[in-house]
Parts: sequence; structure tokens; C-alpha cells
Amino acid sequence: MPADPNPQVSAAGEDPAARSGPRHVAIIMDGNGRWAQARGRPRLFGHHAGARRVREVVECCPGLGVDYLTIFAFSTENWKRTQTEVAGLMSLFRRYISKEMNALAEKSVRVRFIGDRVRLDAKLISLMDKLERKTEGNCGTQLTIALNYGGRDEVARATKRLARDVADGRLNPEDIDEETLPRYLDTHVLPDPDLVIRTSGEARISNFLLWQSAYAEYEFIDTLWPDFSAEEMERLCSSFGRRERRFGAVKT
Ligand code: FPP
Repeated sequence: MPADPNPQVSAAGEDPAARSGPRHVAIIMDGNGRWAQARGRPRLFGHHAGARRVREVVECCPGLGVDYLTIFAFSTENWKRTQTEVAGLMSLFRRYISKEMNALAEKSVRVRFIGDRVRLDAKLISLMDKLERKTEGNCGTQLTIALNYGGRDEVARATKRLARDVADGRLNPEDIDEETLPRYLDTHVLPDPDLVIRTSGEARISNFLLWQSAYAEYEFIDTLWPDFSAEEMERLCSSFGRRERRFGAVKT
């Protein structure tokens, strides 16, 4: 059976209950296309600008006490875009990984990918594996990149694995509770997100971390992703610290 989800010790080894900011921030990076169109440029121009933002946001995490950052790079629904855009995005992901590999490793960032790899090309998968292996010993920011990821698809794939364990006698159906399924999710080694940010003014979650975000706080902001900055991330993390999270309980 996969490892336990929601590790209680932060990447920095401290007690997460003592912090006021979010330990895990997840971001739906939306608005690249509109940002490019507003400049009379093709959509891919916006995706390239968006990729440059990723570095700044990853780098600001340690200063904000954010141990885990999860970013939505490509959804299971994004294949419906034009062939030119999909191919351009895939090429951008390959370039990003090759270009950022050393910088991420040197900054002690640990990178993981979530999502279904079956539709991705062999070259991209090999770069993803390489980056995961190269950074696996790092204990700085835990960066998770969701690539060909969909929350429903993830739950379906997890259920398939769980059903196999039941069929093979490794799991008793009577023992299944809400702690069981997360052990089969792609995110099984990550804590649940505390804060989910979506840029570009759309107030929807678009199939992102459906199970994991049950108690997350949400921020829907108007900024288009290529304009998102470390300052804005800092503001959102500070305002998270002022929220009262009750997880269904009442304040005593
Ligand atoms: C949504 O904007 C964005 C995407 C589908 C792609 C996200 C990719 C990046 C930010 C670039 C690179 C990421 C990495 C990890 C290198 P949209 O195209 O839907 O924008 P729109 O809603 O304005 O059309």
C-alpha cells in the first residue's frame, strides 16, 4: 500500500500547527492567453511569460514559510485546445525542465509531477523522471507540477488501484474509510493544500485537487498569471493567516 498521506512534519522539520501562513499553496495559473491577446500576440507568448513567473513564485516560498507549492500546468481537459497550442505547451514544458533543472536542484527544491503520464511524449516523460531523480534528496520547497492532471481522473485511477488491492486480498473492504483513498492518490506523500489561488478572475476550481482541497481556503484574484508576483503571493499568504479555519467545528 502507498505511504501515508498528510505528513505531520513540515519540510523544514517544524510543527505546522505553530504557523499562521499556509504550509501548502496550490495555484491554478490562469490567464496566459488573455494576457497575450491583450498585447496582440499569440497565446503561446502568454504561456512563455507564465513560465517565467513560475521561477519567481517558487523562489519566494521559503521566505513565506510555504513548504509545498503545487501548480496546475496542464489539465486532462487541455488536450481540447488546438494542436498548435498543445504542441507549443509540451515543447515549453520540455524546455522549462531542461533549463531550470540545475537552478531548481541548487536551490534545494524537490520536484514531483502528478497526473497521468500515458498521453505525454517519451522525451517529456524522460525529462520529468530525470528532474524528479535529480531533486529527490532535496528538502527545500516541495514543488509539485500537475501535468495532464484532472482531479476526477486521479480519483478514478486511485480507485482502480484500490479495487485491485481488494481483488488481490491486500485490502479488506470493511477497512476502507476516508483515510484510505488518499493513500492511492497521486498526492499521497503531500499534505492537503491550505490555500488554493486561482488567477485571472475566474471563480472555479476546474477539476484541480478535488479530494485534497475539501478544507482549503480559496483566493480568486483578477491578476492574469503572467502578471502574478512574489508581492501578491506574500499578500495572499498574509491574508490567509488572518482567516479562521474551523474544519467544520465551532469556535470554543
Ligand atoms: C491557463 O491559461 C494556463 C495553462 C493552460 C497553462 C499553464 C502553463 C504555464 C503557466 C506555463 C508553464 C508552466 C510550467 C510549469 C513551465 P489560459 O491559456 O487558459 O489563459 P486564458 O484563460 O486567458 O485563455
